[in-house]
Order: sequence, then structure tokens, then C-alpha cells
Amino acid sequence: MTLDNILSLSKRKGFVFQSSEIYGGLNGCWDFGPLGVELLRNIKDSWWRAMTYRDNIVGIDASILMHPRTWEASGHVQQFSDPMIDNKTSKARYRADNLIEEHIQKLRNKEKTKDADALEQRLASVQSNEDLYNIIIDAGIKDPVSGTADWTEVRNFNLMFETHVGPVASAEGKVYLRPETAQGIFVNFKNVMESARLKPPFGIAQIGKSFRNEINTKNFLFRTREFEQMEMQFFIKPGSETEWFEYWRQERWNWFVNLGVKPERLRRKPHDKLAHYAAAAEDIEYNFPFGWGELEGIHSRTDFDLNRHQEFSGKKLEYVDTATKDRYTPFVIETAVGATRTFMAVLCDAYDEEQVPAGDGASETRTVLRFKPSLAPTTAAVFPLVNKDGMPEAAEQIYKELQKNFRVEYDSSGAIGRRYRRQDEVGTPYCITIDGDTISDGTVTLRERDSMQQQRLPAQALTAEILRLIHA
Ligand code: GAP
Repeated sequence: MTLDNILSLSKRKGFVFQSSEIYGGLNGCWDFGPLGVELLRNIKDSWWRAMTYRDNIVGIDASILMHPRTWEASGHVQQFSDPMIDNKTSKARYRADNLIEEHIQKLRNKEKTKDADALEQRLASVQSNEDLYNIIIDAGIKDPVSGTADWTEVRNFNLMFETHVGPVASAEGKVYLRPETAQGIFVNFKNVMESARLKPPFGIAQIGKSFRNEINTKNFLFRTREFEQMEMQFFIKPGSETEWFEYWRQERWNWFVNLGVKPERLRRKPHDKLAHYAAAAEDIEYNFPFGWGELEGIHSRTDFDLNRHQEFSGKKLEYVDTATKDRYTPFVIETAVGATRTFMAVLCDAYDEEQVPAGDGASETRTVLRFKPSLAPTTAAVFPLVNKDGMPEAAEQIYKELQKNFRVEYDSSGAIGRRYRRQDEVGTPYCITIDGDTISDGTVTLRERDSMQQQRLPAQALTAEILRLIHA
């Protein structure tokens, strides 16, 4: 499977479209189509249930625009930047570190392992933009567009999108589209703790859009300028961070496995370099068609964020135990996962092509999305075998009945085999065929997507059987 397979299926079947495609598209932005929106919702629902259907985690939905001091306190105004380099001939702009990484990959493809290892080592010990520039020059890296090594120096480029509140675009009205959802949680720490009567350990979860003016937006949904995050900050008593970090790294790994992602395509990647305030950090990565990429970060962040907001706002952000008079600024374990990036991993993971018999000893390729049934955009499809003899009417009735519990499609066109293939390609786990026997004895055929096995059962038992299969 290649990224092109995924891209073309996504467009053809209505999972994902290029944003504003009729105008030529907008780089780094994508639209979710009728099936994509269902899959994304199901992934978000799964996360929301895993996080908030428990004793000590509640949700919020903070606004995207926040007081600009938030981003000074968080460090984003000063530090949220990528090192960029421009080619003077083509005017193309790159992330300097990515340019080097791609060059290393090219060397590896040409089996120049020693050169690749040496460059990788230099990249790992980079301290400044000048170091990055020197690597690019020393390695003779050329611009893929112009073919020249005519580079500018490496400069920092802040990734936050700016806009203005109010009718005048003045400096005072400058605000940012949030680059992460986490800060909406930190600034609401006290509101939530007091209103929901919580005490550490407790968590606040949020799902929402974030925006980053990424320089390098390739690889479909992997790195986009507008994306969705699912973040949870877990507030704990200082001293318990090792225990809770371990707890959350297990929990988050298990969530991906429960989502149906193949464990052999997942790996843990502890951070080599830790931020100065961090006690521990680990990523969960997925093996995408283009290689391993981060899905989620689990970070032990000490009391850094709450302290910064206390300092910048002048408001106390502490937990006070009135009985014991215990008072402290909680430490935080953060779990930060991309919803749209997980969507892409789920889509890649589910994609399969297999050879199946096509009659007369021939075979054909069956494309099938093997989603976990509870994630599938459409749970069931209903087919009348032929459009006569009372079958459409019976099928319509079953379709309406199933719609009370599931997202269902009705398809009456083409041979049954073709209809199965259409549903396989979009990952519908159950297909129901209404035939002559349905009219005489009320039974239907239920066909399962992965095994292609069929069972005969009374139409009245369908809802219970589908629920049983989904939760099996
Ligand atoms: N609050 C911590 C934080 O935002 P992050 O590693 O920058 O951490 C968390 O982001 C997750 O958000 C990433 O693991 C990734 O899944 C997703 N993400 C980050 N930038 C993204 C982008 N430009 N496009 C798509 N997903 C992105």
C-alpha cells in the first residue's frame, strides 16, 4: 500500500478532499467528506469515552482565540518556531532540519551508510541555526526545485497564525489561532477544579482544532496547517509523577491497540532531548507508508505550565486541601494526540488488497478497509436482491429499522457481488441481503466483511446480532 492508494481512495469514496479544490486547493488544509467525517467522529468518540467515562477526568471546550498573554506565558511567542532556509534561485522554503533528514534518507537509499550515520550524528548535536546551515553547505545539499545550493542563512519562523480582534487591525488587537489545545486547559485549571469539586489526581480533556503555519506540509494529513488535537492534562501531587507517567504511557498504548491499530505498526520512542522543565517524555509512533511518524506525545511536565500562568496572570493556580492545609501547585502529565493524524493511521492500517475468486477459476482484487466495526463510517448496508416481488419494500422496512441504531446505507443497483465490493472498499462491516425467502419466512442473509462468511437469521434478530458482533 502506498500513500497514493490512500489518497485516491479517500477522494474517490468521500473520506477526504483537498480544501477549496475548485480554486486549486489550499496547501496544508483538507476537508473531511461524508465518510471521513463519520470515521473522524468515531475516533474522537472512542478517545472521549476512554478519557472521560471514568471517575477523575472531565472535559471542556475552550475557545480557539485566547488572551495573547497566554502564548507569552506558554513560551509560544518566543520559541514556537521552526528553522527555515530559502533557496535564492527558486524562492522555495524548507525546514532546514527536514532538508537534512531527507538528504540522510537519500544517502541510505544509495547505501551510503557511513555518510548517512555521520550526518545523523551531526544533526543530533545541533545547537544553533548556524550549525544547521553548516551541515547543509558541508553536505552539498541542493534544492530539489532549482538544483542549486544557493541558500540563505537559516532563520526562525514562528508557526502561530496571527489575526486581530475588533474592527481595527491594530497591535493591541493582535491574537493568535491556538497552536495547541493544551493552554485552554491550563488557564481553566482553577475554574474546573472548583466547579467540578475535584482534587488531584484529576484530569481535564479537550478535543479541538489547532493551527500551525507549518513550512513543510507534505504527506497528506500527517502535517497540516489546520488539524484536530485530543489533549488531556492530568494534575497530580508533586512526587507522584513517575507513577502517573508510567500509568498514562500504558493507557495510551492500549487505546491505540483497542482502536484496532496493529501493534506491530506501533512503537514507543522515548525523547533523547528533554525540554528543560520536563521530567520524562515519550512518543507513540506509527509506521506510515512514508516511515515512522509521531501520533501522540506523553509528557511529564512538572509544574512548569501552571507556574508560568501564575507568573503572567498574577492569579494563584494551586490546590489547597482545607482539611490538611496542604497547598501545592500540581504537576502535570500530558497526553497529546492528533485526531486527524490518528485518522490517517487508522485509514492506512485498515487498507488491504487481496485476491478473491471471481468465478470460472479467475480471481480479482478485493480492496477492503478492515476497520474495527465500531469505527466504520457505515455499520451496515441493506440490499434487495432484485427490485421486484416485494423485495424493495421489505428491504426498505429493514433499512428504516436498522437506522434507529446504526448508520446504514441502502443499495439496490448492480449485481450483489459488485455491491459487496463497494461496501468492502469503504469498510462497511455488515451487508444484509433481502431475497425471495425473506418474503416467505422473514429471514435475511448477513455477510461479514473480513471473512465474507454469511449467516441466515430472522430480520427481527438483526439489530441484536449486529450489536453483539460489534462488541464481540
Ligand atoms: N500540547 C502538546 C502538543 O501540542 P505536539 O507534539 O506539538 O504536542 C501533539 O502535538 C500531537 O498533535 C502530535 O503528536 C500530532 O499527532 C498532532 N499534530 C501536531 N502538529 C500537527 C500538524 N501540523 N498536523 C497534524 N497533526 C499535528
